[in-house]
Amino acid sequence: VPTRLEGEPVAAPIRAGVAEEARSLADAGAPPTLATVRMTEDPAAARFMELKHEACADLGIRTRAHAVPPEAPPARLYGTVRDASEAADVDAVFVQVPLPDDVDEGRVRRLIDPEKDADCFHPANLGRLVAGDSRIDPATPRAVLRLLDAYGVALGGADVTLVGRSTAIGRPLANLLLRRPPGPDATVTVCHSRTRDLGAKTRAADVVITACGRPRLIDGSMLAEGATVVDVSATRVETDDGHELVGDVDAERARDRVTAITPVPGGVGPMTMAMLLENVVTLAKRRA
Ligand SMILES: NC(=O)c1ccc[n+]([C@@H]2O[C@H](COP(=O)([O-])OP(=O)(O)OC[C@H]3O[C@@H](n4cnc5c(N)ncnc54)[C@H](OP(=O)(O)O)[C@@H]3O)[C@@H](O)[C@H]2O)c1
Repeated sequence: VPTRLEGEPVAAPIRAGVAEEARSLADAGAPPTLATVRMTEDPAAARFMELKHEACADLGIRTRAHAVPPEAPPARLYGTVRDASEAADVDAVFVQVPLPDDVDEGRVRRLIDPEKDADCFHPANLGRLVAGDSRIDPATPRAVLRLLDAYGVALGGADVTLVGRSTAIGRPLANLLLRRPPGPDATVTVCHSRTRDLGAKTRAADVVITACGRPRLIDGSMLAEGATVVDVSATRVETDDGHELVGDVDAERARDRVTAITPVPGGVGPMTMAMLLENVVTLAKRRA
C-alpha cells in the first residue's frame, strides 16, 4: 500500500504558525491584510476564492475582496489591481486566474506592487526566482516542495518529471527543483501538450509531478515501479449528485506501482492554501 501524501497534517502546524504571526502583527497595530481580485464567475475559481477568505478569517488575516464583472472593460480590472496595490493598509495582493481573454495579463502582473505580490505574479519576482534570489515564491510550487520535504522524499540528483509548464506552477517549480544545495538539486524534465511519448518521460522519473488539469491522463503503465507521485490538479467534474475534484492520475491503477501518492483532494490543495497564507504574513512582516 503506497504512502498517502496527505496535506492537512503538514499544513495544520504551518497555519498555526501563521496565526501566531498574524496575532503579533495585530498586537503591534498592523494587522496583516490581503486584497483579492477576481474577474471570473467560474465556480471553481469562485470557490477557491471563498476558501481563501475563510482561511484568512480563521487565522486573523484581514481581507478585502474585489470582484470585477467578467463583462466589464479590462480597464476596470487594471484600476482595481492598481488601487489594491497602492492602498496603504494592504500588505498583499492576490489576483485569481483565469482572466478574460481580452485582459492583458502581463499588464496585470506589472500592476501588482512587487513588495505586495502574494503569489509571485510580478515579472521582477519571477525573474528573481529564476536567478536564485527570490523575494517571494509562488504558493503551489512551494506547496509541492514542502509536502515532499515533510514526507522525506529525497530529491538530490533524483529524476523529476513535471507535466505542465504554466507560469504559475510548472515553470517556477522546475526552477526551484534545479536549485543547488541546500535546494532540491534535482534533474528536471518539463512536459506539455506537445511532448512526444509522455509515458516514456514519466516512466523514467523517480518523482512525477502533474499539473495539467486532464483527469486520468496518467495511468499506472506510465509510472515506474516505486515512483513518488504528486498530483497538483483538482479538476471540477460534474456528477449526478453535484461535482467532484479529480486529479490527472488514475489513482486506482497507479496504486499497485507507486511508493507514495497524493490524494485528490487533500494532498497539494491544503498545502497551497497554507503557503499562500504564509506568504501574506511574510510580506506583512517586511512592511511592518
Ligand atoms: N492543488 C492546488 O493547490 C492547485 C493550485 C493551482 C492550480 N491547480 C490545478 O493545477 C492544474 C494546472 O494549473 P495551471 O494553472 O498550471 O494550468 P494551465 O495554465 O492550464 O497549464 C496546464 C499545463 O498542462 C499542459 N497540458 C495540458 N494537456 C496536456 C497533455 N495532454 N499532456 C501534457 N501536458 C498537458 C499544458 O500544456 P501547454 O503549455 O502546451 O498548453 C500546460 O502547460 C489545474 O488542474 C488546476 O486546477 C491546483
